[in-house]
Amino acid sequence: MKNREMHAETIAVQGRAANTGTTRTSGSVVGSIVQTATFRVSSIEEQREVRLGEEFYTRYGNPTLAEVENVIADLESTEGALVFASGMAAITSCIFTAVRSGDHIVAQQAVYGSTYDFLAHWLPRFGIETTFVEATDPEQFARAIRPQTKMIYMESPTNPTLKIVDISAIVEYARRHNILTLVDSTFASPINQQPRKFGVDVVIHSATKFLGGHSDIICGAVAADRNFLSRLREARIVFGGVLDPHAAWLLRRGLKTLSVRVARQNENALGLAGFLEKHPRIRSVHYPFLRSHPQHALARKQMKGGGGVFSFEIEGTVRNTQAFVESLKLFALAPSLGGVESLVTVPALTSHAMLSPSERKLLGITEQLIRVSVGIEHIDDLTADLQEALSRIG
Ligand SMILES: Cc1ncc(COP(=O)(O)O)c(C=O)c1O
Repeated sequence: MKNREMHAETIAVQGRAANTGTTRTSGSVVGSIVQTATFRVSSIEEQREVRLGEEFYTRYGNPTLAEVENVIADLESTEGALVFASGMAAITSCIFTAVRSGDHIVAQQAVYGSTYDFLAHWLPRFGIETTFVEATDPEQFARAIRPQTKMIYMESPTNPTLKIVDISAIVEYARRHNILTLVDSTFASPINQQPRKFGVDVVIHSATKFLGGHSDIICGAVAADRNFLSRLREARIVFGGVLDPHAAWLLRRGLKTLSVRVARQNENALGLAGFLEKHPRIRSVHYPFLRSHPQHALARKQMKGGGGVFSFEIEGTVRNTQAFVESLKLFALAPSLGGVESLVTVPALTSHAMLSPSERKLLGITEQLIRVSVGIEHIDDLTADLQEALSRIG
């Protein structure tokens, strides 16, 4: 059976159809952890023959990394993938691969806090300017394009306000001007969204989140064509943000349950967002698969499920918000998302703490905005926990 005929659910478990990795040759059903920094050769002649990126030195590449990279490439329908020591290592390495001094970037204003920090505050040091536009308005992306624009950066759904970017409309503008497109697809996961179907060049994940799925590793992943990846591999070698083999093995293990986890998270998040929306103490709920979401139709067109994250505001004061999150029992008060356990955080203090108050205001990130990452627990228990915490805030 050819890979392209298989479903994501099967690919996540089995990997490539003709699995020729360590798994099959050793007879082990599970791939090995090649926990080594370096690879020995028996002669100088052999050293000359070793291809960089294969079994040479783990910062260049490693079989355990290659195994999980193949699965991610298949899930995203790209020629290949590379894994990194964090989502931010993946993002910064991709951007430095795509642009150089004098180039211009168009990016949406609503992106993950450290991504915004990098684009707005770090890149200008290297003579790279970014124009920020409203994520939900493709026309603004088009109008911001200049002759020097080399890259369009998207993130959909956005962290933490769950805006949806019209990926195919923006790719169309980019193609017309020969501009590279990148999408941070972390919030969706490959189960809910496949940006390659809309013509995106480079798909990025904080694999710390849904791909890993167990809140026990920090890692990043990039899926793209061979040409971009060979340059990106050079960036990974030079910047050094490579993933450790043990973490790569945990990522591979996490991926096996990706489809069932995400299916449950989609279901739980939709149920909880719907419950909160009807609750009298709730001011607003942001979740793409709620009918009340301003881009509900686009979300349904672009995504198979709404994902495991939503955000909301309570009617009341900042104190009420604090009292609410502190009295939750099942939802741990912690940043991050995409794991099997439910988490809750106030993004103004965590994922977007590095932004100035005015930058946060522009993004609609108030100290009252609560972001929820829904796990795979039973929905009745999660609903009861939210209900009880709401009743306690007075
Ligand atoms: C959408 C998004 N992109 C990137 C990142 C950064 O990933 P990491 O923490 O793995 O570096 C995060 C982290 O929360 C995120 O939510």
